[in-house]
Amino acid sequence: MDLNSDVERILWTEEQILERVSELGSQLTRDFESRAITPVLVGVATGAFIFLADLVRKIQLPMNVDFVRVESYGSGTVSNGKPKISCDLKVDVRGRHVILVEDIVDTGNTLSCVIDYLKSKGASSISVCTLLDKPARRKVHFELVGEGKYYCGFECPDYFVVGYGFDFDEQYRNLPYVGVLKPEIYES
Ligand code: PRP
Repeated sequence: MDLNSDVERILWTEEQILERVSELGSQLTRDFESRAITPVLVGVATGAFIFLADLVRKIQLPMNVDFVRVESYGSGTVSNGKPKISCDLKVDVRGRHVILVEDIVDTGNTLSCVIDYLKSKGASSISVCTLLDKPARRKVHFELVGEGKYYCGFECPDYFVVGYGFDFDEQYRNLPYVGVLKPEIYES
């Protein structure tokens, strides 16, 4: 079975993604190197796992890495709008600079939920680094915390994307690029 044949077109190639991830890593290194306390990078599982893995290797700083898991979309393509934290952090983020790493910000529901959670855990600042952002689909406003900053790899048009961590029905995450899934795959 060739996963590539289910993809209508490629939006960002592996090369383009890695170049942008490298830029983001350099920017984060510059922005956080002067802070007295080292950052904690928190990936939102599962989608962010590849982006996080590539990003941390481009940040030249001591850091901690952890994950939270948020349940929101199930196996469909439309959010049910009620995300909840289903897997807790291992690292104590109290007084720490958290960089929340997402694969995509869509409605903003997930980020808003995770930011509230990290605030409740006492993070002193919360930044967000997302590979993709779909601003046209934003429904929920979220606020960064303290000296938190927003970092984004690419603005994404409103397509259903797969690859580089993005799934449909838990498949396609391992494609090395980000592409648009053929509608007949998720409409069938
Ligand atoms: C996706 C994505 C983000 C979230 C963004 O997660 O990884 O976490 O949706 O959407 P929102 O801004 O509308 O909340 P999904 O629930 O599909 O799980 P996954 O990470 O396991 O793919």
